[in-house]
Amino acid sequence: MPRRTIVLTGASDGIGAAAARMLHGDGHEVVLVGRSPEKTATVAAELGVEHHLVDFTDLDSVRRLADDLAARHPSIDVLANNAGGIFGRDRVVTVDGHEQTFQVNYLAPFLLTHLLMDPLRAAEGTVINTSSAAHRLFARFDVDDLDAERRYNPRRAYGNAKLAQILHAREFDRRHRGAGVTATAFHPGVIASSFAGAPGSAMRAMYVSKLAGLMLAPVEKGADTLVYLAERMPGVDYPTGEYFVEREVAKTSAAARDLSLASELWRRSERMLGIA
Ligand SMILES: NC(=O)c1ccc[n+]([C@@H]2O[C@H](COP(=O)([O-])OP(=O)(O)OC[C@H]3O[C@@H](n4cnc5c(N)ncnc54)[C@H](OP(=O)(O)O)[C@@H]3O)[C@@H](O)[C@H]2O)c1
Repeated sequence: MPRRTIVLTGASDGIGAAAARMLHGDGHEVVLVGRSPEKTATVAAELGVEHHLVDFTDLDSVRRLADDLAARHPSIDVLANNAGGIFGRDRVVTVDGHEQTFQVNYLAPFLLTHLLMDPLRAAEGTVINTSSAAHRLFARFDVDDLDAERRYNPRRAYGNAKLAQILHAREFDRRHRGAGVTATAFHPGVIASSFAGAPGSAMRAMYVSKLAGLMLAPVEKGADTLVYLAERMPGVDYPTGEYFVEREVAKTSAAARDLSLASELWRRSERMLGIA
């Protein structure tokens, strides 16, 4: 297997940290990106690898991260947009003026991917978005209300953001596949991690009860499809622009297959980010 340069966000904990350990164990160059300085440094020290910090609630932090990554890595084989989460009952607006769930799970990774296009092109690389089956359960997508100004509830915001990640992978793949740069999304499973565990989180009950402890799968299981996609040849070993569950292309909601919605979301995202 060729050694790849793999940039992994959300690598300080949970599925991302497990994926980092597995990919490092397989001999790849793993570049860790986390938010917490302590947690990220701990995983980096354990593996003896480079790490970077970012806070996706601040788009300037994303721009600084992209500058650092592009300066150090002129060629990136895999960008895993894995950082994310679900938040609380009250709608929170970031310093950039966007609803927090939308920005952390979707808009910040959209910007990071855009800013890393040169290294991705240089490697004919691929982008892997950690989405969720929540897009089927909770999304009520309104392209005219991406920041949930009219209607916010945390599960819906999370489902919408995870749907947006699938639409991003589809549209990115459609636009860039011809130049050898591809994208894919996947659902990791229902996984025992720090996800949703914060007090006030909208899915806390589902993740922290004793019963939940029996039903949740370990983080290594959550990382399995990410590692599978990162290590294989996109477009040869698996079809790109798709949504995977347990290493297989899986059924999505109708909205997640809507190519005109994917294009419209792309245009609006560019406009929101001032990169049109
Ligand atoms: N666990 C599940 O059942 C499940 C199911 C479906 C999808 N997912 C998705 O899987 C991905 C990984 O989640 P996980 O289960 O591994 O949860 P986790 O253990 O809570 O890890 C989340 C990661 O995202 C990072 N992160 C959170 N907010 C951030 C921000 N504002 N800026 C930058 N990084 C931020 C965290 O950084 P710090 O730790 O450094 O703060 C951490 O590394 C997420 O996208 C989640 O939506 C999880």
